[in-house]
Amino acid sequence: MAFPDAWLSELLSKNDIASVISEYTELKPKGGRLWGHCPFHTDKTPSFSVSPDKQLFHCFSCKAGGSVIQFVMQAENLSYFDAVRHLASRANMDMPEEINDRKLIEQKHLRDRIYEANREAANFYFRELFSEAGGGARRYLEARGVNADTAKRFGLGFSPDGYDVLYKYLSEKGFSRDVLLSAGLVIKGRKDESKTYDFFRGRLMFPVVSASGKVIAFGGRTMANEEPKYINTGDTPVYNKRENIYAINLLKGKKLDDIIIVEGYMDVISLHQAGIENAVASLGTALTSQQTRLLKRYASKIYYAYDGDDAGQSAMIRGIDILRSSGMEPRVIVIPGGNDPDEYIKAFGRDDFLVLKDASITGVQFKLSRLAKQCGIDTADGRQRFAVEACSMISRLDPVERDRYIPYVSETSGLSAATIREQCGVDLKTASDTAGADPAGRKRYMGFKKPKRDDERTLSERKLLSCIMRSADDGLLISKSKLFSLMLFTSDAMRVFAAKLISDYDSGKKVNIPLMLAGLDSDGSEDISDAFSSIDSISDPVSCAEDVMLNLTVRTLKDEISELSKSSANASTAEEKDRLIREYKEKYAFLQNLLKKNGRK
Ligand code: UTP
Ligand code: MN
Repeated sequence: MAFPDAWLSELLSKNDIASVISEYTELKPKGGRLWGHCPFHTDKTPSFSVSPDKQLFHCFSCKAGGSVIQFVMQAENLSYFDAVRHLASRANMDMPEEINDRKLIEQKHLRDRIYEANREAANFYFRELFSEAGGGARRYLEARGVNADTAKRFGLGFSPDGYDVLYKYLSEKGFSRDVLLSAGLVIKGRKDESKTYDFFRGRLMFPVVSASGKVIAFGGRTMANEEPKYINTGDTPVYNKRENIYAINLLKGKKLDDIIIVEGYMDVISLHQAGIENAVASLGTALTSQQTRLLKRYASKIYYAYDGDDAGQSAMIRGIDILRSSGMEPRVIVIPGGNDPDEYIKAFGRDDFLVLKDASITGVQFKLSRLAKQCGIDTADGRQRFAVEACSMISRLDPVERDRYIPYVSETSGLSAATIREQCGVDLKTASDTAGADPAGRKRYMGFKKPKRDDERTLSERKLLSCIMRSADDGLLISKSKLFSLMLFTSDAMRVFAAKLISDYDSGKKVNIPLMLAGLDSDGSEDISDAFSSIDSISDPVSCAEDVMLNLTVRTLKDEISELSKSSANASTAEEKDRLIREYKEKYAFLQNLLKKNGRK
C-alpha cells in the first residue's frame, strides 16, 4: 500500500499509539512500557504491552502485535486502507490523493517550465557559438577535430563570459527567477543571495537530451586549463544524472545490434563523427541500474569502452556487475596506452577502433585479468592469492560459463585445471547469497532446498531479523557474512523486510523502521514487529547473528541429510541411488566441516 512516506510519517506522529490504544483499554506504566488487558482476547492478567518509544504494541499471550495501524485494523476490524483512513480522520488530516492532485499539478507545471527554459537556453548557447563571441569556442572545436556538422548534430554551444547574460535573456522571455534557479541555469550570489548569476560562463556547452527529445541538463567544458574541467547541471526536478544517458536521443529509431558505453561527452562525439553512431556516455563514473534499464530498451549487447586509467577501469568493474545482475553480458573494449576512445580514434582512426571492438573480451575475463594484475602473478604468493580469489569469482557462474575460464585461471596461476575445479567446488558450497538478487535470478540456498518452517525456526528467524535491524553498520556486516543467505528466512515477510533493510543500508538511505512497519499490510507483520521490539536485548548483533545463522544452517542441513538418506533408500534405479548417496555424503561432509570449524560437534 503506497502512501507517501512524509504523509504516513505525519499520520503516525499525530496518532500516538499510546493515546490511540488508551481509547480501547486502560494502560499503566511499568518498566519502560505501558501495560493493560488485551482487547483482542479475554485477558485475566495484563499481558498486553505498548512501547511508546518504538510505537509498537504486543500481546504476550495472544501474540498480536504491530504498529498503531495494525492495532486499528484488528480493533475496528478494518482493512489496511480503511484503518489508515480512520486514523487520518482522527487526526484531521486529508487523505493523500486529495493533497497529491494539487501538488502533482504544481510539480508538473514547474517541470514543463524547466523544459522550456532549457530549450531556450540551448538555442541561445547554440547561436552564441556561431556568433562573433563564439570565435574562440569554434577554434577550440576545430583544434579538437570536431566539424560544424557534428557540432550541430549535438547542439553544442557557447555560454558567454558575462555575469548574467543568459539570466537577462531568459527573464525577458518571461521565465521567473525561481524556475531558472530550479533548472540550475542560474545561481544565487554566495555573499548576497539576492544577486543572480549564470551558472555556465565562458564554457563550451553540451546539452543533455532525454530519450523523448527534451533538453534536461547541460555540461560545460572550460577551454582554458581551469578546474573543474567540466561543470554539469546538478539534480533538478527534470534531471538526475544517475538515471540518464548522454546521447540516448540519437539512438532513437535506429536498429542496433549493440551499444558502446564510454565515459565522456567528447568520446561520444568523436565516435559519432567517425561513423560509430551507437556510442553513448554514462557521464558519471559507474553505471547505475536505472541507466542499465534505459539501455536495455535499445540493444541487448553492451560494449564498455572506458578510459584506460585506473578510475575508468574500476568504474567498469562496478558497471559489469550491475549489467550482469540485470541479465546483460557486457564486453569490454580494452584501449591500449591509457587513452580514451576520443584520443584513440583520432590517432588511429575508425577501422583500428573497430578492430579493438572485435578483440573485446567478456566482462568476467576483464575482471579476471585485472585481478591477476592486482595480485601480482610473478610471485608464488601472488599466484596463490589470484587462484583463490579467481575461483571465488567464477564459482558463482553457471557451470557451463565457469568452465570457459578454468583454462585461463589454471594457466595464470600455474595450478592444474583439476585443482582449480576443486577449489571452485569448495567455494560453491560456502558461497552465500547476498541481499541483491542472484545475477540470473537463480534461487540458491547454498545449493540446498528451501528449509521447512516451524515455531522454533520462526523464533530464530525473528532473532536474525532483530540483529539486522539493530543498526545500519551491524546489519551490513551481517549481510557480508559467509553464512548469510536471505533464504535462511522461511517467512516471506521477514525475508522481504530483511532484503529491503539491507539494500537501504547499502545504498546509504536513511532507514526508518517504524515507518516501514506502518507500511506493512501483509501477514507476518507480527514477526517483524516482534523482531523490532526485541532489538534492545541484543548486545552484540554480529556475533548473535553468526550464532543464529549457524544454527539455522545446521538445522537445514540436518533436515536435508535425513531426507536424502530416506530417498536414497527408496531410489528406483541404481544410478539414482548412487547420485543421492553421493549428495548425502557431500552434504554430510560439509556439515561436519562446518561444525568443526565452528567448534561444535
Ligand atoms: P575525462 O576527464 O575523461 O574527460 O572525464 P574527457 O571526456 O576525456 O574530456 P576531454 O576529452 O578532456 O574534453 C570523463 C567525463 O567525466 C565527467 C564528464 O562527463 C567527462 O566527459 N567529468 C570529468 C566531469 O563531470 N567533471 C570533470 O571535471 C571531469
Ligand atoms: Mn578525453
